[in-house]
Amino acid sequence: MNETSAVKTVSLTIDGQTVSVPEGDTILTAARRNGVDIPTLCFLEKLKPIGSCRICSVEVEGSASPIMSCVTPVVDGMKVVTSSEQLSRYRQEMMRFILTNHPLDCPVCERSGECLLQNRTFELNVTEHPFRTIDYKKTAVDDWNELRYNRNLCIFCERCVKVCWEIQGFGALAIGGNGYQARIVPTTGETLDCDFCGQCLAVCPVGAISSAIIFSARSWEIEKVETICPFCAVGCSIEMNVKNGALVRNTSNDNIGVNNGNLCARGRFGHESVQSEDRFRTPLVRKGVKLAETGWDEAIENVAGKISEAIKNYGPDSVGVIVSETVTNEDAYLIQKVFRAGLKSNRIETLSNMLNPKLNSGIFDEMGSSAPIASYDRIGEAGSFVFFGCDAEKENPVIANMVRVAMRDSGTPLFVANTRNPLFKPHARQHVRYEYGTETLLAAALIGALKESGLSDGGVGDPSAFIKTSGSVSVSEAAKSAGVSEEAVRRMAEGIKTAGSPLIFLGKEIHDHPKGAEIARALSNLANLAGGRLLLYREYCNSQGANDMGLGPSHFPGYLRTDSDQAAGYYSAKWGVETPAFPGPSPDMLTDLVAGKIKVLMVVGCDPITHYNDGQFVREAIQSAGFVVVTGSYDNETGVLADVALPTTVAAERDGSYTNNEGRVQLLRKGVEPVGQSKPEWEIFRDLGVRMGMDMSYETCEQIAEEIAELVPGYHGLTHNCIARGGALITYPGKSSDAEGYEFDTATIPSDSSGFPFVAIIGNSLFHLGVASRHSKALNHMAPGACLEISPDDAVTVGVSDGDNAVVESVQGSINVKVVVTGRSSKGIVFITKNFENAPATHLIYRKNPVTRVKVSRTGG
Ligand code: SF4
Ligand code: SF4
Ligand code: SF4
Ligand code: FES
Repeated sequence: MNETSAVKTVSLTIDGQTVSVPEGDTILTAARRNGVDIPTLCFLEKLKPIGSCRICSVEVEGSASPIMSCVTPVVDGMKVVTSSEQLSRYRQEMMRFILTNHPLDCPVCERSGECLLQNRTFELNVTEHPFRTIDYKKTAVDDWNELRYNRNLCIFCERCVKVCWEIQGFGALAIGGNGYQARIVPTTGETLDCDFCGQCLAVCPVGAISSAIIFSARSWEIEKVETICPFCAVGCSIEMNVKNGALVRNTSNDNIGVNNGNLCARGRFGHESVQSEDRFRTPLVRKGVKLAETGWDEAIENVAGKISEAIKNYGPDSVGVIVSETVTNEDAYLIQKVFRAGLKSNRIETLSNMLNPKLNSGIFDEMGSSAPIASYDRIGEAGSFVFFGCDAEKENPVIANMVRVAMRDSGTPLFVANTRNPLFKPHARQHVRYEYGTETLLAAALIGALKESGLSDGGVGDPSAFIKTSGSVSVSEAAKSAGVSEEAVRRMAEGIKTAGSPLIFLGKEIHDHPKGAEIARALSNLANLAGGRLLLYREYCNSQGANDMGLGPSHFPGYLRTDSDQAAGYYSAKWGVETPAFPGPSPDMLTDLVAGKIKVLMVVGCDPITHYNDGQFVREAIQSAGFVVVTGSYDNETGVLADVALPTTVAAERDGSYTNNEGRVQLLRKGVEPVGQSKPEWEIFRDLGVRMGMDMSYETCEQIAEEIAELVPGYHGLTHNCIARGGALITYPGKSSDAEGYEFDTATIPSDSSGFPFVAIIGNSLFHLGVASRHSKALNHMAPGACLEISPDDAVTVGVSDGDNAVVESVQGSINVKVVVTGRSSKGIVFITKNFENAPATHLIYRKNPVTRVKVSRTGG
């Protein structure tokens, strides 16, 4: 560090000891930095100091009365005393004031034993409760949908108000009324209508905010088991609260994992799915038209027999597997090992890889060192943020929390480019709306504007040379064709240039886009030019790990190509089993199913009929297989077609590891016993492999992790012991460590609007993801069915109003939805939530149309 950038320091004395701390520290921070403990109540590390309780007050020489240490910055020469008789009395008095309206209801309060107020009262030795308001009487508990507010227990510390604004960006809570009438009130109307992230519940130091899910335990009866959220790809740490073998709630902890105690509704309230009555408990085998209960041995025997028969008669290529991206790394590794080394079949897929292999298993072949994977540390270091085709608040909400904190603390500017108007608070410095299908043109315009503004090449050569149509694309032409003004493009480019090192987030819309890989390549040129990085939002908890472990036909684990004799030789030698190379183009599993080439299909943990594009076609394809094996934790649409159905454990019931969006491998821990006879996938595939003649003796998941740590490039050394605390970032392959230029084309996507005026973007609801969330009562209460977001202008044209029921039709099908009229949608674009098996939005997609267009009409209800 050079002298000009050196942090300035301040000298002061704390309890007689001279210390030197960075300028800008508060007295509290300075004291803690030097091992001096000052009691606090309203202070929370992740929030700006609130200064409402006065418990942290200290004596400062020259000040007549104690001052709050959490809000007071240090100054040179300051003399601070943190503990004295007078301070003790002062803090006790403050506690008595705080307790004025607080009944001593500890025996019936659900926070008893984990209440900061209880702890401070005890530590400060406050034994009397002398102050009472004149007309002290209890008020009723407020029903806030998924939360409850008990004004009687509220100490008005304001943590809930601040966390909802500073971290969640919602601002759903405020203090209403004065004096004895004061209470926390929703700003959303009579009751709360918000993201239901539960950050307010988590930070409330007392029992004033509680969950509407009945909590049937006392804190001392609970064992907390740290694990990873099984929903999205952020990889948040959660604590399972287990009482007598049952999962009674999930809590967060600011001191573990990547999420700083923040969770979204799915992570905090989705745990009901674990003990849902809908859980599938026993192996089933088809007997005539019905599925009948059977034992594991019979079921596995049956599957092994059918696979052997298919391989004998039609060859190994007649057996395929589609695997969920929610299986663990250990499951994924073993599934592909059984298929490749045991069955000699390379028909291995995930739904994401089937949709967009270039951004999944082929990502490093496609983009080398510029692959859009970036550590979350980059969020704090970025000069600017660019959300490109990304609705950050709804897609990976806890990443949005991290971005918001960086904006609060560092003033990092945000730029948004989208076909819609996703909301974000604090507001973006600039938002440009482009026409769907013109994304690479907009990227070309931004690159051109950056170049023309004099930015050097960032080591990538002339990025405009990589635009295939660069000869004829000027900034003004490209901007105009993308539906953006030239002035807006130049302003955004200037903003990115001035702020430097952009972190560009590619949303799910880009991941699912017919030109997703092209857009990623285009934007990597932009990022490289400006010294930045891309981060692609993945969908599920182990989407990244599924790719890393070789769940796609083009790569073995660690991105070694399956068409390489050398890679096949490597795994043959390591596995001790002759494993062939698999040359040739990747097969299209669904087309081959329809063509009758696949005789046995295994579907592991997912529901392709509900969650893959063109569900009708998927159904026909799966029906074409002679024998279908489905593994999962709940019944689903695909399960209806099963000949054998095998119950699997959910994340809370097992060990293993997931690799998150940033390439961090993290440990999953077992909190509760599996329901019924369910087993983790690795056990099922181990038993199948053994039946098929493989020599496999894994007894624990950890043994598989050890094999991964020994064999898989990037994962070397990452045993469960090694990742037990905090996880570890994978070392990914890259073509080079230097920034590169990537060719991309600027062709737009034509789409025929006749009869179908709206482009449909289909994505996840904030409250649902995959199969499990539909089995949580709380999440279903928050989002009971599919919604259509439509702009106010379009709503008028179509004749629908907010809350109406409507039918959405495409060339392929129709579904019923609830209408949400919102400025989030722009004219001509509608957004439809997927995940609802009773209204599967993916059934609107026709696989031969790159863009899904729909019409909307109101129904009677
Ligand atoms: S649940 Fe989240 S969004 Fe709702 S009030 Fe609490 S902090 Fe705010
Ligand atoms: S509800 Fe809880 S967090 Fe909010 S002001 Fe009251 S005590 Fe503080
Ligand atoms: S769903 Fe994603 S953002 Fe929400 S708590 Fe789980 S990992 Fe975090
Ligand atoms: S902790 Fe400082 S005022 Fe509450």
